[in-house]
This record gives sequence, structure tokens and C-alpha cells, in this order.
Amino acid sequence: MCGIVGYFGKRPAKDFLIEGLKRLEYRGYDSAGVAFLEKGAQRGSKASKRWKIKAIKALGKVAALQMKMEGVFVSGIGIAHTRWATHGKPSERNAHPHIDCKGLVAVVHNGIIENHRELKEVLEKRGHKFRSETDTEVIAHLLEEEMSPSGEKRKVGFEEAFVKTLKQLRGAYGIVAIATEDPEIMLAARFSSPLVLGIGSGEMFIASDVSALVGDVKRVVYLDDDEIAVIRRDGYVVKTLSSRKREKEELTLEWDKTVAEHSGYAHFMLKEIFDQPKSFADALRGRLILEEGMAQLGGLSAVEKRLRSINRIVIVSCGTSYHSGLVGEYMFEEYAGIPTEVEMASEFRYRKPLLDRKTAVIAISQSGETADTLAAIREAKEKGALVLGIVNVVGSTIARETDAGVYCHAGPEISVASTKAFTSQLAILSLLTLYLGRQRGLSLVMGKRIAKELEQIPKYMERVLAQAKDIKKLAKKYAKQAHYLYLGRKYNFPNALEGALKIKEIAYAPAQGYPTGEMKHGPIALIDSSVVTVMIMPKDSVYEKNVSGMEEILARGGKILAIATEGDTALAKKATDVIFIPKTLEMLSPLLAVIPLQLFAYYVAVERGYDIDKPRNLAKSVTVE
Ligand code: G6P
Repeated sequence: MCGIVGYFGKRPAKDFLIEGLKRLEYRGYDSAGVAFLEKGAQRGSKASKRWKIKAIKALGKVAALQMKMEGVFVSGIGIAHTRWATHGKPSERNAHPHIDCKGLVAVVHNGIIENHRELKEVLEKRGHKFRSETDTEVIAHLLEEEMSPSGEKRKVGFEEAFVKTLKQLRGAYGIVAIATEDPEIMLAARFSSPLVLGIGSGEMFIASDVSALVGDVKRVVYLDDDEIAVIRRDGYVVKTLSSRKREKEELTLEWDKTVAEHSGYAHFMLKEIFDQPKSFADALRGRLILEEGMAQLGGLSAVEKRLRSINRIVIVSCGTSYHSGLVGEYMFEEYAGIPTEVEMASEFRYRKPLLDRKTAVIAISQSGETADTLAAIREAKEKGALVLGIVNVVGSTIARETDAGVYCHAGPEISVASTKAFTSQLAILSLLTLYLGRQRGLSLVMGKRIAKELEQIPKYMERVLAQAKDIKKLAKKYAKQAHYLYLGRKYNFPNALEGALKIKEIAYAPAQGYPTGEMKHGPIALIDSSVVTVMIMPKDSVYEKNVSGMEEILARGGKILAIATEGDTALAKKATDVIFIPKTLEMLSPLLAVIPLQLFAYYVAVERGYDIDKPRNLAKSVTVE
């Protein structure tokens, strides 16, 4: 997905622009570009130097752009972009920033301008010449048209022209623009596509994703829809489209630079898999009250009373966050006694969901920016439900738009394939189960057992991670399979889906996840001696059922890679291969069983030689529908 960065300050903008783009590389892109203001050559006899725009673009990686910029002096004001093609193929011509006919403005844009065709037609009639196939280019020409109408004298200033332009756009946008006419400001606007300002000392930053700012600033301000930011070297003002000033909350960015580096690991994904004992412990920190078998969740205190009266939960989320929601469903129903449903946010938003004040809708999202999840919570709010968030990125749109919520504190997750965010979400869902359960019928004894066991999980995770070498060998053995089947039941059914998703995402392997009991209704037709089925079968309440499923597969010549509880020698004898996980409570077993699935997918992708942190066609945070 596209990425935006901008810099206005005392240093040459180049340093941050290139570094910022590199920090956004994980989002996926096909071309990159920068534009900055530079003082033009002396003209005529007068020593007047005029500002002009200089743009440099490159197809492919940011490193290619960086090479093209070697030796180029860049002023202290510039914008940059990584493009993920939507309108027009990947090419230098289509790469942002886009510039108008007269070279007055340069614009970078994330999102889609839905009425770009109509706008382009009108602009072409007025004589504007388009150089790219993008929807974004209309913004540059509209700005030009407002600032310097064809055949007329310049009418309005940059800021006014910017507002007038925004009012003509339909669709989603995060826009940052600079103009030769007004080198003292940089302008930004948001509608449905995130932008965050970074406040430095005597310098200002802007980015579409907060991870681009990590290491450069400590204070950030998120823009909301229909807001514009007027950015100067030493500060900013946020306004509405009707030019009313908005007071904005400045948040502290707690992530530091080291967490955004892959420190000795071959890939971010591997680092993040190994981060899990720590990220899980961070999610629990200060929130477990062992002696009361309870959780204290400060983010929910404002809605505590209302939470006592809810009688239904609907979880909305996408991708891996959807899978953690499915585990949450089993937890809430079993231990908090609250009927729970989980919906893919992309479907939820187009249904006519029946919600009322006694329903709590919980959005789960690592990024806090997923467009479908955001649309789902807006729908839920409209219907009067209590809307909560389980979000990783502090200050993100979903975090801001929910009534209350709990942060995951997993630190930045850079790998497109989500790993540590999943286990941190499960940590929060477990805490929420205690919180809601103890408000209802969950006994002190059971509450204490869950709390005590949660504390042990990081240690157990280490034991699973210690088997990485063995898992690597198994991945090598099975790396060439044409397709993979994952089976699990009850709490580990969502893990079957997650295991299949991981191997699809990074190893591009056709894979399916199914509840073991459903196997006989279709997937069993896939079984023959060339297929390994990954079965998640810890010693839990559905263990025997899983064993029966395994027998059916073995009877048809299929191979079994089992994830089993330590000490289960009987199973080890039957399965083709086995990976052991420590014994824990059934509701917490997905936290351990998912780790071999993540590692297996990772090592299969390594064997197949793919770009693991930037898998093809995927984006880390899907901010368009
Ligand atoms: C994208 C990512 C997935 C992620 C999903 C939901 O598809 O590639 O890894 O699980 O979005 O993202 P969210 O940020 O809402 O958890």
C-alpha cells in the first residue's frame, strides 16, 4: 500500500525522506519519488531567485531512488511517496509526487479519488495536460486551476486553493502538498486515509504510518477526517474544512528505533516470532490481579458500568485479527457466559446487523487503520452499540473512534504476515475474559487459575521457540508440497485457519484450514500419500475427536504433522512427525500451538526463496476497501 512522508525543517529534507520511505517499505510498493522546493537560477538582471519544484522518481526500490538522489542538494522542505499501483501501471511517470502544468505544486496522495475521471475531463477542456494515468494527478491540476486560473491573474493563495480543491474530491485521501508560491507552509489533509504529524524541535514531520516517524520524534498528532494541517518549520495548525481551528491532542510515541530493526534476525517476521514471550508479557504487564483472579483494564474504566449490562458481543476484524477474534468467541462464551459472534469486517459492513445498546462490538486490529474494520465500527456506533477496540497502534483511527479499548503494547509489527500481534490480541482477549467473567459467574478459583497460567505463558513460549531448528527441518521436508491442509478443533480451530493463512501469505502455497470435524464433508477428498495434514491436537477436551480424524487420514495414506502436548508418546508413535508444546489450560493452548505454525510457514517460505517481509500483492495495513 502507498506510503507518504514529508519533512519541513532545518536539515536537508532528503535525510528523513529516504529514511522514512525505507521504514515504510514493509507496506509493499512498486515505485518511489520525492519532490522538494529549490531556489531557481538567477533570472535576468535582478538578483531574484524564484522557488521551483524539483521531482525525482524511480521504478522499483527506494534504494534506486536514493541512488538517483546522490549528490543532489535538497532544501528543508520536501515530500515523498511509495506507490502501490491502482490507477495505471507501475512506472516512473505514474509514480508520485505529481506536479501541475506550470510547476506550481507537488502532491503526494494515498487513497482513491473516485470522481477523477469527471474532474480530468473538465480540466482537460480548460487546457490542462496530464502526464500520468493516475487519479492523483487531478489534485495537482485542480490546485493549479484554483491558484492560477487559465488566462486569469492568480486569484487565491495556496491554503485557500487547497481547501477549494479538497471540496471537489470524492473518495478517500491522505494528501500532502507543497507550492512554490508559498514556501513557508506545507499542507496536508485527510479523509479516510491516515496521516500523522510528528513534532520535532524546529522541524516538522508527516507520514501516513507512524512507524515512519519512530526514532525521529516523540510527540505525534493524528489527523481526523475532514481536517487539514498547515505545517510550518516550527509548528502546525489543524483546521476544519471551514477554516475553524481544532485543538488536537498530542500523543507520546513510545516506540524507539531499536524495535523497528531486525537486529540480527534474517527477517522481521522471524524477529517478531521470537519477540512473542516479551510482547505477550508486555500485554499483561500491570493488568493481572493474581490474588483476585481478575484483570484491571484502565482503558475500560469509563464504560465499566455499561459493560456490566451487555448481553451480547460481536467481534469485527480482518485477516489474522479475525482469527484471534474466533479464539475470543470460545473464551467469552465459556468463561464469561456472554453469547459472542465473530464477523469479518468486510461482510459486517454490508449486512444489516442487528445491534442495540446491550451489544458490545469489539474491533480487533493491529494497525488500527484497516478500512473495513473502521467502516464496521462506524456502522455499529450508528446503531447504538458500545464499541470497543483491541488495537496495537496507539492513537490510530480505530483507537480514536471506539468508545473505549485496550492497547496490545506489542510494539511495531513490521512483517506483513502478522505474528506477535496475534498472540498479544489473545493476551488482551484472555484479560477481557477475566474482566467480564468475574463481573458475571466466573469463580474466584477459576479466575485465579487462568491468571496464574497466563503468567506462565512467556516461559512456555520459550520452550516452543527452542524447537525452531527441528521445525526448520520439517519445513525443508515438506516445502515442495502442492497444497497444505490444517485441522484443529474448538480453541484450536482458529489456529488451523491461521496456520493456513500464514503459509498462503508468505510461501504462496495453496492451503486450507478446517475444523477437524468438518473434514469428512469435503477436504478428506484431498487426502493421498502426497499430502501432509498439519493437525493441532493438544491434550484437551476434544483430543479424542482429533485422534479419530487423524486415524481417518492415516487410513487413506495421508501424512500427519501433529502439534501435540509434551509427553504424548502415544500420539508421537502414530503421527508421521510431531512438534510438542507445553501443557496449559485449553483456552490458552492456541498461544503455544500457533508458534510452530508461524515457524513452519516461515521456513517453508525460506526454502522456496520468497521475499518474506514483503510478500507479493499484500499490504500490511489495508486502508482502502
Ligand atoms: C492485512 C495484513 C494482515 C492483517 C490484516 C488485518 O491483510 O496483511 O496481516 O491481519 O490486514 O489488519 P489489522 O491491522 O486490522 O489487524
